[in-house]
Amino acid sequence: MNQPSKKQDLTDTSPLAMSSGGGSAGGGAGAGGGGGGGGAPGSANRGPQPDPVRDARADDTKPVPMPQKKRDGPPPSVADVEAAIQETAKSGTNVDTLVGRFVIDQGFITREELDSVIERAKTGSAVNADRNLMSLAAILVNEEYITKRQLARIQQQMEAERSGQKIPGYKIMGKLGAGAMATVVKARQVSLDRLVAIKLLPPKYTNPQFIERFYAEGRAAAQLNHPNIVQAYDVGKVGDQHYFVMEYVDGRTVYDDITSHKRLSEKDAIDITIQIASALLHAHEKGLIHRDVKPKNIMITKEGVAKLADMGLARAMNDREAAEAEAGKAFGTPYYISPEQVHGKVTIGPPADIYSLGATLYHMVTGVVPFDGKNPSAVMHKHLKEELKPPDQVNPRLSAGLAEVIEMMMAKGSKDRYQSCKDLILDLKAVREGKPPIIAHKDVAGADLASLAHIEASTVPVEVAVAPAKSGDLASTLTQWPVMLILILLFISFTLNIVLWFKGG
Ligand SMILES: Nc1ncnc2c1ncn2[C@@H]1O[C@H](COP(=O)(O)OP(=O)(O)O)[C@@H](O)[C@H]1O
Ligand SMILES: [Mg+2]
Repeated sequence: MNQPSKKQDLTDTSPLAMSSGGGSAGGGAGAGGGGGGGGAPGSANRGPQPDPVRDARADDTKPVPMPQKKRDGPPPSVADVEAAIQETAKSGTNVDTLVGRFVIDQGFITREELDSVIERAKTGSAVNADRNLMSLAAILVNEEYITKRQLARIQQQMEAERSGQKIPGYKIMGKLGAGAMATVVKARQVSLDRLVAIKLLPPKYTNPQFIERFYAEGRAAAQLNHPNIVQAYDVGKVGDQHYFVMEYVDGRTVYDDITSHKRLSEKDAIDITIQIASALLHAHEKGLIHRDVKPKNIMITKEGVAKLADMGLARAMNDREAAEAEAGKAFGTPYYISPEQVHGKVTIGPPADIYSLGATLYHMVTGVVPFDGKNPSAVMHKHLKEELKPPDQVNPRLSAGLAEVIEMMMAKGSKDRYQSCKDLILDLKAVREGKPPIIAHKDVAGADLASLAHIEASTVPVEVAVAPAKSGDLASTLTQWPVMLILILLFISFTLNIVLWFKGG
């Protein structure tokens, strides 16, 4: 049989929430081959279950692959997928009708071919090895119209369509992924004939304060326009479903890259960080703080452009609440949250995003998160109290310059960090050129000279500062050091003159 190539590339290929119970098995023609789909084999069964990912993380600081991205492992059985489809439909519509519609819509089979297959399913002329009647799905797989994986993907698309079917003006195409708060689907905006990604919030978000902030931030994010920001297009509500429409990014997340390569090269990590810092600079200049910078919110397009996703969305939630919601979902713990967000500060500024970008950069270049712990509170506590293990100790191949930049980005006190992404970009560009960072550079000699100048200026003894020099200190070092040098030279020349004068006399 000719096998049409797959119509669209859904990044998430695993079946979802496969119900093992089989749901309400709608009678219908040829359902005999389906029937009670007991536990799906291997990784196929992904209903809500205990959380091995987070448990593994408690003992191991290495990042764990994103569960929904796994491509290997055996495909699920036809019976399991049929059970899941029935569960998804939950309307009594029989599986054959649903599967039939999808295989036609997607060009897997012609109308005539489908009619013939349905006929065989009905009349019982198609039987399996055990002489049981075969269902439509089973015949389609058996006769190679579709693969088991394609059948599983059809089920995913149905789920996505069901959750987003009410959004007018958009044709839902399939599921892209799910985070702590929401599900993200790929869709076509019919009026403009363009691909978009739609974030669907579960109806449980009914708190009026949350809704108000969700819209306010959505509107603010839509004002932004930057090549490194995933463009926000629209926010809205249909029934009890709130949704957020944004630019569709055909690519992968930085998290995917970290898990598949363990860590990124210093060059790639710096390139990505500079792009995201310039996205943040743009947002900060417009008064928007992202609040949820993390590897999963940085997408890389096929052309290698880094794009910051979810701009403004985190603000709708209280930071701690958001972090804990994440943790509960096992898609991560608050690995990148800034100390001031842990403290629940209401007014947070650009340094909070700079901290999270620093933690993200740390993860990119070392392959481990900066702080890990048994549970979210342990991790949050470490962001507040525990000294950061220098990234160049974790990865000795890291340049000293980049390690200094990361340490300054992740200073516990927001005042000790870069105050603006402009400064951060300056330092990252210096490191990229193989030069020491300008602002974060811990030049011990420089620190000595600066304090020497200080001693000169006052008679009060001062301690030699070894903390990262700030731009102000740098300026004073530059302006005072030449003066010091001239004074010393004048003093030496004066002493020599006196000695020579005496000798001469
Ligand atoms: N604009 C987009 N274009 C393409 N895929 C996206 C987009 N936004 C999100 N995704 C995918 O959907 C997944 C879930 O996103 P989200 O709900 O924001 O959770 P998280 O950021 O925690 O992963 C992401 O990991 C990503 O793979
Ligand atoms: Mg996201």
